[in-house]
Amino acid sequence: MADLSIDFAGIKAPNPFWLASAPPTNSGYQVMKAFDAGWGGAVWKTLGVPVVNVSSRYGAINYRDTRMAGFNNIELITDRPLADNLKEIEEVKKYFPDHAVIASLMVESKAEWEQIIKDVENAGADGIELNFGCPHGMCERGMGSAVGQEPEVLKTIVGWVMEAANIPVITKLSPNISHITDPGLAAVQGGTDAISLINTIKSIVGIDLDSYAPYPIVDGKGTNGGYCGPAVKPIAMHMLKDLAKHPEIGKVPISGIGGIETWRDVVEFILLGATSVQVCTAVMHYGFGIVREMEAGLQKFMNDKGYNTIYDFAGKALPNVTEWKHLNLKHKVVADINEEKCIGCELCYIACDDGAHQAIALPENGENRVPSIIEKNCVGCNLCSLVCPVEGCITMVKKDDGTEHMTWHERTEAGTIPTTFNDKLAGGLGHYVPEPKLALKNKNGHKNGS
Ligand SMILES: Cc1cc2nc3c(=O)[nH]c(=O)nc-3n(C[C@H](O)[C@H](O)[C@H](O)COP(=O)(O)O)c2cc1C
Ligand code: SF4
Ligand code: SF4
Repeated sequence: MADLSIDFAGIKAPNPFWLASAPPTNSGYQVMKAFDAGWGGAVWKTLGVPVVNVSSRYGAINYRDTRMAGFNNIELITDRPLADNLKEIEEVKKYFPDHAVIASLMVESKAEWEQIIKDVENAGADGIELNFGCPHGMCERGMGSAVGQEPEVLKTIVGWVMEAANIPVITKLSPNISHITDPGLAAVQGGTDAISLINTIKSIVGIDLDSYAPYPIVDGKGTNGGYCGPAVKPIAMHMLKDLAKHPEIGKVPISGIGGIETWRDVVEFILLGATSVQVCTAVMHYGFGIVREMEAGLQKFMNDKGYNTIYDFAGKALPNVTEWKHLNLKHKVVADINEEKCIGCELCYIACDDGAHQAIALPENGENRVPSIIEKNCVGCNLCSLVCPVEGCITMVKKDDGTEHMTWHERTEAGTIPTTFNDKLAGGLGHYVPEPKLALKNKNGHKNGS
């Protein structure tokens, strides 16, 4: 069995599965239940001067059959008195001394930071997470993402915290910024021990067509919320990669957050450099039990690949994430349809003809509905394989022999890139494009120059 335990900037946990600061970590009852179910750590619901919340608070994007593909909230930090939370942190630590309990904090003045840090340390918290991410409500009061969006202010506050804290400090970043490395670097320069990201993304998930108010509706009005759940995972992974690849920021441990639901999500975040992960929406949707699948899946992945600890593969994908200009322009794939698997829905034909490069032809004999690829027209864009509802029916087949390598960067150096509007070096010059009038003539499917 692989060893899943971690030492994250000095915070020890039996596994890298942590609950993110959110409703599932609102109370000692929930955190104890989660640890009992198998979670290795929990970032407590953000503590500070308690707030007053609104009702309702959540909205969601239901995509076709998928409930909560994206989730949105306008909840603030804890609405419970600090003393109650501290008492429960202390109690949880008594039952689970080897699990990680991290106190998420958000206050305003230096004196408040110093006081609350002392309080959570006395309660036995293993670490502190600074919430510079909340993109609603708290930012209107100069906290949350208002700090996360101002690297200089963030650096100053991290500096205050580092002076006061005796336990490891994680700075949680807001994704509501153009370059995540700006606040990331500010946090590192302020002295943070670690970084976590992402907090939620500013969003409006929908408008009610009777009241014309955005969801969630509070007495006829709404406001932007924070977006999270499966829909934000690609954005989170991109930002994680930017931080992990940065020469200075990448030296501190990073806790990955955003849309994590399965063991595979966990592995992907670790491959991009995270050494712990945090989960909120998936637990709000399915409960604490999802950690069992995460643990079994991660164990199997590590055993299959021969990894003993998560540090054996953390960041392994980073060298393969490069800039576009370094991709091999000589690499060539084309689509291939498996006739045995094809159900004749012809979705690939529609997608390619209307949305790509007119490289799929419909059968002319009327005997079946299996389309065919016109190889010389196919640019290898992948669209048909993404649209096809049958797993493994359309595959992308490599056509180059692997001997040639030429990148945009190399072509720029060699002076062989197109530089004028009608340049003869244009990549698409000579590639098949149907005559415009064929669009009106061939309503039943043209032959696409085959
Ligand atoms: C209802 C709700 C409340 C949240 N409250 C907090 C909070 O108090 N402090 C904090 O740092 N993040 C808070 N978050 C953000 C989560 O910790 C997490 O960063 C975000 O939801 C992305 O993870 P996910 O896609 O797994 O949900 C909250 C998220 C939700 C949905
Ligand atoms: S989308 Fe897939 S299943 Fe449908 S016609 Fe194309 S290849 Fe066949
Ligand atoms: S890969 Fe792109 S261009 Fe080629 S057949 Fe599929 S959709 Fe058309």
